[in-house]
Amino acid sequence: MIWFLKRMPLLIVLGITVLVMSNCTMLGMNYASLETGNKALPQPPLDVQAITGSSATRDELKQAFEDTLYGPWPKGMPVTFSQWHVVDPDYLDGRGTLEESEITIGSGEGARLFHLVAAFPKSDRSSPVVVSQTFSTNCASFPGEPVTAADMSVCDGSEMDGVMGKVVTQIFGRYIAEVPVSRYFDLGLAYASFYASELVPDKNGEAQAVMARMGGPINPTSALMAWSYGFSAALDALEADPRIDSQRMAVMGHSRHGKSALIAGVWDRRVAAVIAHQSGFAGAALSRSETGEGLVRMAKSYPHWLSPNVQAYLTDLASLPVDQHELLALLAPTPVLLGNGRRDVWSDPNSTYRAAEAASAVYDADGAGGLSDSGMRAFDPESDLAYWLRPGGHSIVPKDIDAFTTFLAAHLEKAAPPETAVQIAN
Ligand code: GCU
Repeated sequence: MIWFLKRMPLLIVLGITVLVMSNCTMLGMNYASLETGNKALPQPPLDVQAITGSSATRDELKQAFEDTLYGPWPKGMPVTFSQWHVVDPDYLDGRGTLEESEITIGSGEGARLFHLVAAFPKSDRSSPVVVSQTFSTNCASFPGEPVTAADMSVCDGSEMDGVMGKVVTQIFGRYIAEVPVSRYFDLGLAYASFYASELVPDKNGEAQAVMARMGGPINPTSALMAWSYGFSAALDALEADPRIDSQRMAVMGHSRHGKSALIAGVWDRRVAAVIAHQSGFAGAALSRSETGEGLVRMAKSYPHWLSPNVQAYLTDLASLPVDQHELLALLAPTPVLLGNGRRDVWSDPNSTYRAAEAASAVYDADGAGGLSDSGMRAFDPESDLAYWLRPGGHSIVPKDIDAFTTFLAAHLEKAAPPETAVQIAN
């Protein structure tokens, strides 16, 4: 009995871990199939000529995504931002500064405020930047730094400090919350990040209520669209700063935030590159795929992520007018990295590859380099449509950071001097 009581906290942690794992990764026991030729081609087929040649076709397709999956892009929703406030003048032993801006989206009482934290490297030139959107709070992304928490207090430690945080890090990877900013500084990149739930809470019911009150001419009806607009607002603040090179601003996110990074890249064409890591359904995975989470399950578990209109298609997915290869096609020619884990079957690396394969023709026609044709295991970071598959599950591990930085170095106009370019293998 005493043995049991003593180990109670550990047993509770283990129990929760199993629950979390089964919810987020279906235990990660399976491997994604590497066979793509034996599966159905993405539907509807892409009209490559029309998509590349006519902005009207692109607009219609974007409209179809808004009407069915994501709801409207909140065009014209007011964005304001404060001056940068220096959080740490000697960040990373003086390699740069850590600063924070308050961004407000919307108008009236329902306007939303979130904190964008940015690490600026010391440089005599303007720097390219990558903007990340996270599950974890800014306290956890920048542990030990006195950034402002969502409740407006000053961060004192991170929610990842305790046993639970350690367990989560074990499962979801070293960099699931904490950001290795020095790796981005090595490339001369600035790094900015915000906690998505500070903008629109990741909670069914609450999210819709918050979005309805944001006070725009058009309000978002899905959290994914609202979070994408958050990326856009962050770009507004960053491009207004002369330290940032506004032609070289990338966005990135993991999982649900990979979905919103892809959307931001389509609806805000200032985005110069996208990293969508394990974005899964409503991201880069095909909605009609038969493996992984599936759009139907996702829309039922997380209805607030998508437009309420999607519910009408769930009993007959074949009737869905769009699929995600078309989202990737709309992104062309913007460089995109689709990150995947072989055991993260839940986010469906196989259909993600097939979506990219189909969209490749549009990248090729746009004069950008499409997917290199050598299968799911070939990683070509130079390609404008880059697909990365590593072993392991739903996580952010050091190898992913290698892939992200190599891709960014290649696409933000050789942000890295050649001697620091990283050679990586999967
Ligand atoms: C859940 C959800 C996925 C999502 C993931 C995440 O697992 O089912 O669609 O991508 O959470 O955001 O981590």
